[in-house]
Amino acid sequence: MSDKKYRIETLALHAGQVPDPTTLARAVPVYRTTAYSFKSARHGADLFALRESGNIYARLMNPTNDVLEKRLAELDGGAAALSLSSGTAAIYFTVANILRQGDELVSASNLYGGTYTQFDAILPQQGIRVNFTPVNDFAAVEAAINGRTRALYVETVGNPVLDVADLESYAKIAKKHHLPLIVDATFTPPTLLRPIEHGADIVIHSLSKWIGGHGTGIGGVVIDAGKFDWSDPRFALYNEPDRGYHGLRFAHDLGANNHLAFILRLRTVGLRNQGPTLAPDAAWQFLQGVETLPLRMAKHSENALAVAEFLRSHPRWSGCGIRGCRMTPPERLPGST
Ligand SMILES: Cc1ncc(COP(=O)(O)O)c(C=O)c1O
Repeated sequence: MSDKKYRIETLALHAGQVPDPTTLARAVPVYRTTAYSFKSARHGADLFALRESGNIYARLMNPTNDVLEKRLAELDGGAAALSLSSGTAAIYFTVANILRQGDELVSASNLYGGTYTQFDAILPQQGIRVNFTPVNDFAAVEAAINGRTRALYVETVGNPVLDVADLESYAKIAKKHHLPLIVDATFTPPTLLRPIEHGADIVIHSLSKWIGGHGTGIGGVVIDAGKFDWSDPRFALYNEPDRGYHGLRFAHDLGANNHLAFILRLRTVGLRNQGPTLAPDAAWQFLQGVETLPLRMAKHSENALAVAEFLRSHPRWSGCGIRGCRMTPPERLPGST
């Protein structure tokens, strides 16, 4: 879209799409293609060398997915995005795009169960250690950071306990140690919260929940704020010639796109060589969901407030503390036998 500032409702409908110049189709088409043609051998070579941007092969990119990625990047205030086959894949490939054997991640412990298991049982098998700390315990976060730490990880609202992370305090610590802050914002789509505005470097959403809304697909997206300086030599994957993509040093060799090193590496190394691609039909379904996201989230929030008010006025309500809100069990109510 142009430089004009649009409201989030308009962005949810139109961001990321330029109507097809041949057909002038208004809605986003589904591009069911495996491969793309090149205008010449030189054109193909320039695309592969990332000297020119364009479609190479559908494991790496697809015009339908491209609209979804641009739309979600714009909604979240990011520089660029990549869609993947699930939220779980988005998390795994994000971590693998920063850390390698011997590196460590500091993560809040109140995670979605699948993510917790990935961090606790799978990453250690690959030589990546995860140090868990209670959410918002910043003394514990500081104590867990060491010379091998390469990122901080947190969910905006933890699944299932629903505790809210203090993103600005996490961002302050991340900045102090020059570590990227990765935020899983699945529970707070961009119409509710935009973590990049609170200091996140990388935002992940499972599209399978609120962003899709219809419950008919599995997908994930990673959004890059484009602000982290990957040329710090501690981030070896960005500073050494990458055997995963023609010996490129991602923090140095992308010219005007060096600031997009993270998301370009995720696409050209993670997606290209390991293949967790989101199908264009699923991308199209998620676009249908995004169109109504602002309306649905307003309704969800209204419903949640009504439930909270009902519970707060209930005789068994016993208040909220750092471990969440509680109801008195019936047997402990005065007068119970
Ligand atoms: C907070 C959170 N992150 C990530 C995921 C994983 O997403 P997906 O089911 O799309 O793999 C979930 C799934 O429930 C989740 O709740």
